[in-house]
Amino acid sequence: MESHNSTNILYLLAAGAALGGAAYMANQYFPELLNNKTPIKVPASSSPPKKGKYNSDPDAPPPEPTPLYITPEQVKTRDDRPWRPFRWPYHQTMSIFKLDVNHWLDMDKYYYDYIKEKERVFHTYGKDNFDHLPGSEEACLELMEMVKSHMLKRYPLLFTTEDNGVHVKNELTGETLDFSLPLKLDPLIYISKMAKEDFYIVLKDEEGVHRLMAAAVPFPGGSFGIKHKLGKTLDVIHTEVPYYEAKLKPSMERWFAKMVPADLVERASWYISWDHRLLLNSVYALKESDKVESTVPPTEFNVRVERQTLRRLPKSKAIIFTNHPVFYSIEEMKDEPLVPSLIRKIIFEAPEGIIKYKNFESFRDHIVPYLNKLVDRQVDLGLIQEDTPVKTLPYYPFAHFLKESDAEKGWNNPKYATNYSETFKKEISVTEKLEKETYDRVEAGPNPFDV
Ligand code: HEM
Repeated sequence: MESHNSTNILYLLAAGAALGGAAYMANQYFPELLNNKTPIKVPASSSPPKKGKYNSDPDAPPPEPTPLYITPEQVKTRDDRPWRPFRWPYHQTMSIFKLDVNHWLDMDKYYYDYIKEKERVFHTYGKDNFDHLPGSEEACLELMEMVKSHMLKRYPLLFTTEDNGVHVKNELTGETLDFSLPLKLDPLIYISKMAKEDFYIVLKDEEGVHRLMAAAVPFPGGSFGIKHKLGKTLDVIHTEVPYYEAKLKPSMERWFAKMVPADLVERASWYISWDHRLLLNSVYALKESDKVESTVPPTEFNVRVERQTLRRLPKSKAIIFTNHPVFYSIEEMKDEPLVPSLIRKIIFEAPEGIIKYKNFESFRDHIVPYLNKLVDRQVDLGLIQEDTPVKTLPYYPFAHFLKESDAEKGWNNPKYATNYSETFKKEISVTEKLEKETYDRVEAGPNPFDV
């Protein structure tokens, strides 16, 4: 009896501390949410870079990264900046931010797993995911040199050389890359052995139209291999993208017309799945109108953030588009004010085209009871109020704890640090059957890129 009582008291104290902590967090970061006012603009010093000033000099040199002395040991526990690219209202817009060159190719604890997965995809699917067309050789070489120089300058303890870059040791994988001429591998492979990102190389053709001319894209997620996209124009590539013609194309064209090598930008898009695979996610492996199996626990659902960058190479003038997927479970974001409410709103109320493209209908009824619980929990904890307006967060596109860390320490969810490495490896080890079945089905259907 006695011990029961003290246990109860401990529980009460713990619950009180949790409530107090949550309310403190809500007050510190989101006072405007608690007071049910429209979110105020966060002062520039603590908010992520927004519009920023762009260069107009086409000959201005690209910015150089500054060294970050992190060790391979430190990489094992660090996380990327915490992305939360949820917007409401949800309009299809470019939504780009000025990019600090230091974040062009970020480093995180999944680096090794991603590089290993690139190897598997290359050995299994080869040119379906890594290929280039004639005319892109110069751009591919220029990109390879740029990636090499970036890695050596930004991460001097992770990429080392004793002969001025002729041989470069990747200290994270242990592999030494031989860059002596003639190159022994396709430049796209060197790039893929250094960076965990996917790379798209876009060049203007003789008519001034942008075409995808080379790509090292092992992690398309749902948009399948690049073999059907190589050589296609950006318009054709984005055929399936909702509202592209009306909303995206005009601003993309404007942006590309003025984008110079000194200007780098980034953006992030996202979708939801219940796995961590990189080449093909469960949500896109479903047959049309199929739904997630009822046995999948709602706590398994992740937001896959596609963190993207754009820059122009100085010599070839190629546009380099990178994509880096990173997963955040809904569970790990459950104490971030309004995140469950935003996800719930978007999967049910986003524009119809977005709901279809992201296949929200295949799982939303399955996870809505869970999301409802998370929203109620936030109200109980005082993180939000019942009538708090659901709107884009003040720290968009990041979580509020972005400013609590820096590039040296890396970012971790302070409350629910996650590491999906083991699950990821298990999922990858049994994925080929699913990939094959899905690819065969997609290949048998109409190809949207053959126009
Ligand atoms: C310049 C090089 C670019 C390349 C090579 C490229 C390539 C792609 C590819 C392959 C897809 C998947 C299409 C599919 O579903 O089959 C895609 C989707 C998409 N792209 Fe691009 N893209 C580029 C630039 C941009 C830019 C600048 C924007 C806007 C700022 C953009 C916005 C989108 C959007 C909104 C989607 C739909 C998926 C999502 O919600 O993000 N793309 N892109």
